[in-house]
Amino acid sequence: MSHSPAPRESWGTRIGLIFAAAGNAVGIGNLLRFPGQAATHGGGAFMIPYVVSLLLFGLPMMWVAWTVGRLGGRWGHGTIPGIFDRMTGGKPWAKYAGVIGVALPMVFIIYYAYIEAWCLAYSWFSLKGTYVGDGQHVVDLAVFLDEFLGMAPTHNYFSGIGVALLFFLVTLVLNVWILYRGISGGIELLAKIAIPLLLLFCLVLGVRVLTLGTIKSSVLDGLNFLWNPDFKALLDFDVWLAAAGQIFFTLSIGFGSLEVFGSYLKEHDDIALTGLTTASVNEFVEVIFGSMIAIPAAAVYFGVERVPEIASAGTYAIGMVSMPEILRGIGGVHLFGSLWFLLLFFAAFTSSVAIGQVVMSFLQDEARLSRASSAGIVGAFWLLGAFPVVFLYKYGALDEMDFWSGTIGLVVFAIFEIVIFAWIWGIDRGWKELHKGADITVPGFFKPIMKWVTPPLLVVIFVTWFMGAILSDSLVPRPSLHFGIEGRAEIHGSFSHHAPGEGDPEYADFQRVEEHLRQVIDDAGHDLRGWLQVTIHPAAPVAISGFAGDPALLERVRPAELQRWLQLQHLSWEPPPGEPAHSLQVTIAFEGRYRKTAIWITRVTMLAFLFTFGLMTWAIWRRRAAEAAGGAA
Ligand code: ALA
Repeated sequence: MSHSPAPRESWGTRIGLIFAAAGNAVGIGNLLRFPGQAATHGGGAFMIPYVVSLLLFGLPMMWVAWTVGRLGGRWGHGTIPGIFDRMTGGKPWAKYAGVIGVALPMVFIIYYAYIEAWCLAYSWFSLKGTYVGDGQHVVDLAVFLDEFLGMAPTHNYFSGIGVALLFFLVTLVLNVWILYRGISGGIELLAKIAIPLLLLFCLVLGVRVLTLGTIKSSVLDGLNFLWNPDFKALLDFDVWLAAAGQIFFTLSIGFGSLEVFGSYLKEHDDIALTGLTTASVNEFVEVIFGSMIAIPAAAVYFGVERVPEIASAGTYAIGMVSMPEILRGIGGVHLFGSLWFLLLFFAAFTSSVAIGQVVMSFLQDEARLSRASSAGIVGAFWLLGAFPVVFLYKYGALDEMDFWSGTIGLVVFAIFEIVIFAWIWGIDRGWKELHKGADITVPGFFKPIMKWVTPPLLVVIFVTWFMGAILSDSLVPRPSLHFGIEGRAEIHGSFSHHAPGEGDPEYADFQRVEEHLRQVIDDAGHDLRGWLQVTIHPAAPVAISGFAGDPALLERVRPAELQRWLQLQHLSWEPPPGEPAHSLQVTIAFEGRYRKTAIWITRVTMLAFLFTFGLMTWAIWRRRAAEAAGGAA
C-alpha cells in the first residue's frame, strides 16, 4: 500500500496516557458490575476464578492489545480492520473480521452512554433532593427508576422519558465534544481531571460507608458477606464464565480501545509497564473501592440477610435503587448522593470517550476525514442508535445490545486478535514487539499462555455462551408483563411486592398464569394494556372490582385470571404508622409487551452498523488499491 499516512495525533505526557488508560478501564464495571457479580457468584470464592481469568485472559490480552495497537500506529492504523490487514499480509477476510472491532464498540458506547446519562441525571436529582420525599409520601425508588426509563406502565414521578432523553443528549454532546478535541486536548485532559476526582470521591464515600456504624448490620458483616468464600461455587462453570466476562468488561478488552490508545505511541514507547500499571489501577479501584461502597452500605442499612436479594436484583438496581435509598436513610442525599452518581458518571465518561475514539480513529485514519467531520459522524451514529436504546428500552433493547456487543462480541474480537497475534503474525515476533522500549520484562510464562492457553479457552467461553443462549431460547424474544399503581405519589403509606421465584411453592402456578398471558400477547402481536380497579387491604388479598383495556385482553383474559396473577405477586400495602388499617381503592395499570418487533429493530440496527462499517472498509480498500495501481502506472 503506497499511501502515506496522515500525521497522527499523540499523547501529551506519559502520566497523561496512564490517566487516560486508567479512565478507559475504570468504569461502571468496577463500581457496580463487580460487586454485583462477586456477591451473586460465591462471594470470596469468586476471586479465585477472577484472578485465574486475570492471569489467563486479562493480562495476556491486555499486552496483546497494546502491542497490536502500537504496531498499527506505526503503519498509520489505529483500528482493527487496518491492523489485521497488515498483520496478515493483506488477507481479505482479516480486514472484514476487523470490522467487528469498529462496529461493536460503536454499539457499545451508544447504550453505555445511556447508563452514563442516568448517573448524571441522578446526580442532579440528588442535588435537588428530587427523590427525598417527605414523611407522608414515600418515593419508591424502584418505581422512580422504572418511570424515569419508561419501563413502568404508570406516571407517578415522570410523565414520560423526556428527562432521560434530555440527559442522554447532554451526555452525547459532552462525549462528542471531548472526541472532537482530540487525544491530548480531549481524552487526556478529561482523564487528568476526572481520575483524581474519581479517586477522591471513592475515598470520601468509602470513609463514609466505613463509618456508618451499625444500623441493621455492621460494615464488617457486609464485607464478610462479600468476601466469605463459598467454595462450592468453584464447581459451577457459570461462575467461571461470569469471572471471565467481568475481566473482559473491566479491563476494556475486546473493545478496540486499548489498541487505539497504543496506536498513538511511538515504536519505542513502553507498553509493558504502562499496560500493567493501568491494569493495576483498575484492579485496585475494582477490588478495593468496588467492594467497599455499595454492598457494605446495603448490609448496614437493610441488614446483611437482604444483601443477596439486593445484589441479585441486577447491576443497576444496586446503584440506582439501593444506594439512593441508603443515602436517603442516612440523610446524605444532597452531598453523598451527588458524589456517588458523579463518581459513576466520571468513571463511565472516561470509558465512553476511550471506546468512542475507536470509531473516530477509523474515520480519521482510514477514511481520512478531519477530526471535526469524524466527530460529527460519530455523533450521528450515536443519535441513530439512541432510538432503540432510549425508546425501546422497555422492550429490552439495551440488554440485547449488551449481549451482542458487551458480551459475545468481546470474546469473538479477542479470539481473532489473539489468533492473528500469536499464530499468524507469530508469537516470537509478537513477544519481541511487546518488549520494544519496555521498562519491564514480562514474565516468560505469559508467552506460552498467549499461544497455547488463552486462544482455546476463549473458544470454550464463546461456544458455551452462545450455546447457552440458544439452548435457553433467549434468542427468541418473549413478551414481558408489567404492572404499576396509578397515582401512588398521592397515596400515603407504602407498597411492597414479592413475586414467587424458583423454589417457591407457588412458582409453578405463577408460571402457568404468566404463560397464558404471554400467549395472548404473542397472538395479538402488539402491546396489550389494561386498567384494573382493585381493592387492597393490609390484611386481605388484592381484589379486582373493574377491568378495562385492549379488546384482545378483555376477550381472552378473565378478570379472575388477572386477579390470581396479582395475588401471586403478593402485592401489599401498609398505611403510615399510626393510621388504622383500612382498605384502599387504586387503579393498577397493566401492560403486556410484545417484544419481537422491538428486538428485531435493535438487531437490524446493529447489523446495519456492521454493514455500514463493512461497506466503508470495502470502499476504502478499493480506493487504495486503485490509487496504488494508478501510482504504479
Ligand atoms: N472498562 C469499562 C468499565 O469497566 C468499560 O465499565
